[in-house]
Amino acid sequence: MKNRIGIVGGGQLGRMLGFAAKRLGFHVTVIDPTPNSPAGQVVDRQIVADYTDEKAIRTLASESDFLTFEIELTNAKILDEITKKGIRVNPSAKTLTTIKDKLLQKQFLAKAHIQTADYKEVKTSEDIASVAEEFGYPIMLKARFDAYDGRGNALISKKSDIPAAMQKLKGRLLYVEKFVPFVKELAVMVARSTKDEIKTYPVVETSHVHNICHTVVAPAQVSAAVQKKAQQLAQKTMMHLKGAGVFGIEMFVTKKGDVLINEIAPRVHNSGHYTIEACFTSQFEQHIRAITGLPLGDTNLITPSSVMINILGNRNGAVSLKGVEKALAIPGVSVHIYGKAETKKERKMGHITVVGGKTKDIYKKAQQARRYIQI
Ligand SMILES: Nc1ncnc2c1ncn2[C@@H]1O[C@H](COP(=O)(O)OP(=O)(O)O)[C@@H](O)[C@H]1O
Ligand SMILES: [Mg+2]
Repeated sequence: MKNRIGIVGGGQLGRMLGFAAKRLGFHVTVIDPTPNSPAGQVVDRQIVADYTDEKAIRTLASESDFLTFEIELTNAKILDEITKKGIRVNPSAKTLTTIKDKLLQKQFLAKAHIQTADYKEVKTSEDIASVAEEFGYPIMLKARFDAYDGRGNALISKKSDIPAAMQKLKGRLLYVEKFVPFVKELAVMVARSTKDEIKTYPVVETSHVHNICHTVVAPAQVSAAVQKKAQQLAQKTMMHLKGAGVFGIEMFVTKKGDVLINEIAPRVHNSGHYTIEACFTSQFEQHIRAITGLPLGDTNLITPSSVMINILGNRNGAVSLKGVEKALAIPGVSVHIYGKAETKKERKMGHITVVGGKTKDIYKKAQQARRYIQI
């Protein structure tokens, strides 16, 4: 039986994929540069190397029947070569290449007639100023590659903000997006298996602070019409996107009720962590099923509602975890700690999920549990 899975990346997403894969009996190897990485702690073997290390990726491929990744930073070119040698890489190297470059991703969505914010490639401060004249301020300057947790974004509210924004994203390939005055951000997790089965998770609501995901509410507190638009957009995107696996689709809702796509993640996603406790099949198990050709699981909620809050670091230094007992004493609360040795300001260290009846009540419980935990 083919039962060896290789994962490029050993962070918290790899860890949760690891738990799910181990439960199904797979042998799991990860690549991560940090020894004893969050995923390395729970899988069979970790290769200590950079995500883009050619030799390490080839070693991983030679030891795996199925290859996948938990970060977009990996080397799409090598994955493509590996695919040609007959190892199943999912999502496909082609999809990864399209998504990895945020500008190419926008062009791909435009070609599929899927609505996004207006955008334009820029190279110089003069380009930015002229696009800003066209779009009107504010605008969002974005790095095309290797952007996550808002680290590749710079908001430009007026012309005099341009130098600081350029400084923040110095040396990177750039493009500009029109600022979307959204009323809410939504996300939909979608899965496609190697057998071409597609399943969509409920529409959730995400809240960001400093561009980092803080809270996820499932199901989203939006009208049925907006829910439907979001679901349809997710399905339409999947019709155009190749490859198997779980994808996270981030969206904006405007005051008028229009839904546009912000970005696609070619992997399991922070906005889908709630699925571990709140759905029949978690996004992590679903990804493992999808890439190994197993039947996809039920994506429905098994609870009326769910709230997820991230545990982000608030200082730099060694981890010292406190307050878990108090948090777990609240009914319906689950705590996930990622096993990172060092905390950093705004680093994702864990998360809390609460399941239960009324969203308002469980939101309060989640906030209380979060206040108890120090890391
Ligand atoms: N065009 C935009 N208009 C308004 N807000 C935006 C825009 N683009 C991004 N943002 C805000 O910044 C957050 C992070 O941006 P995103 O492009 O998703 O980057 P990342 O890859 O870091 O998640 C979004 O979730 C949203 O809150
Ligand atoms: Mg995002």
